[in-house]
Amino acid sequence: MHQLQIPPSPGDQFFYVGGEAEFENMLNYKRHGSHPVILGDILPKPSTCVSDPAKKPRYRIIMKLGFGAFCTGWLARDLVENRYVAVKVCLGSDTAHENGETEILSQLHETGRGKHGYERVIQLFDAFIIEGPNGFHECLVTEVVAPLSDYDVQRWCSSETIRQIIEGFAFLHEQGIAHGDPHNGNFGIAVPELEQFDEEAIAEYVGGPDTIPVVPIDPSLALHSLPPYLVERLSIVGFLQEQKSFPTGSEMSVRIMDFGRSYRTSEKVPSLPGAAPYEIRPPEVAMHDLSKGKVGSIWSEAADIWAVGCTLYHIRRGGELISTGGSANDRLFHAVDFGGPPPQDWPELWNDGRKTLRPFNRVKAWEETEANCSDEKRKFLDLIKKMIVTKPDERSPMAELLTHPFVQRRSSNGC
Ligand SMILES: Nc1ncnc2c1ncn2[C@@H]1O[C@H](COP(=O)(O)OP(=O)(O)O)[C@@H](O)[C@H]1O
Ligand SMILES: [Mg+2]
Repeated sequence: MHQLQIPPSPGDQFFYVGGEAEFENMLNYKRHGSHPVILGDILPKPSTCVSDPAKKPRYRIIMKLGFGAFCTGWLARDLVENRYVAVKVCLGSDTAHENGETEILSQLHETGRGKHGYERVIQLFDAFIIEGPNGFHECLVTEVVAPLSDYDVQRWCSSETIRQIIEGFAFLHEQGIAHGDPHNGNFGIAVPELEQFDEEAIAEYVGGPDTIPVVPIDPSLALHSLPPYLVERLSIVGFLQEQKSFPTGSEMSVRIMDFGRSYRTSEKVPSLPGAAPYEIRPPEVAMHDLSKGKVGSIWSEAADIWAVGCTLYHIRRGGELISTGGSANDRLFHAVDFGGPPPQDWPELWNDGRKTLRPFNRVKAWEETEANCSDEKRKFLDLIKKMIVTKPDERSPMAELLTHPFVQRRSSNGC
């Protein structure tokens, strides 16, 4: 019988464990995992920069901004330019090589400058590779943003935010780039307002950060692979709201970030790291996984469109459009219910024989969402409907969506 693999839990190996939302998994600090960073470190530390051995320490770590499946993200002070930056320290690898994210961001900044939508791509200031106890780590230095996964950021979003995201994707697709992971944690709002405040103001706001000591139960565990403690996340929006300086209304400027799963559409799709979250996974990708690659397809530009549709809905309406509850088959059923008839070659994998499924009904699925909607909301849902279409080639291209009545009417009403 197929055994369910239970992932190891940090509590089995460490004496202290923090909440999952604030603290990264301690088990990730191992060979080819995260690089141990502590507050006050100045990166790159002397003689650790393998991409440029002459590079001097430059980015002083102030606080942790967050973490993902592939990195830890840090707020730092650029001691040369005297400004705040974010340093994304990627997972370790065996060899020192520029990763796809740095390559694609550099390309976009080289070839896209001045084009419509270019400013929606997060600014890349610097990139270098360090060698540490857990391998070689790419470090990307970018502008700091307030991620849209934070409810306090989402609540300030308007139809202009929606327009800016579509504009950004029209630009990426025109440049031949598929993003690969467009969920709201990978969108942010630019926060140039941060520059008005010195490091003392941030320290005062944090007021002695919460930390968790990293103490392995097994005395033989390699301590040099681990940081001495984990630190809580700094909420940029929380800090700026307290200072009454968070950008709102027409001042909000969207940035698309995390190009870790991005690729050039002109090239054969490489095997993409990780998997896009269920909330945004398009049916052809889910079908491809369920059928072990026999039908459906891997990620594509059209997959970006579906995923952006789900994310825009979430940002504006505060919840998921398509329920992610239940099994993989259930999720696929819900997606096709909203998206309309599947291609004829798809086997009925959503029907696992456990229950009698009603026929798909796109009209009915949307009717429930549209019930009691104002004209404005109806217009918004019409925009989303053009992206949520089961057959990938029937989804409206991003450039076309820029002419949709909801997007064209620029307004800054709250969500
Ligand atoms: N430029 C940035 N500004 C603010 N926070 C950031 C920045 N870059 C990364 N982070 C934080 O680190 C997290 C992970 O970064 P991300 O680029 O999404 O990597 P991953 O591929 O691991 O998801 C983000 O969700 C965010 O909390
Ligand atoms: Mg991410």
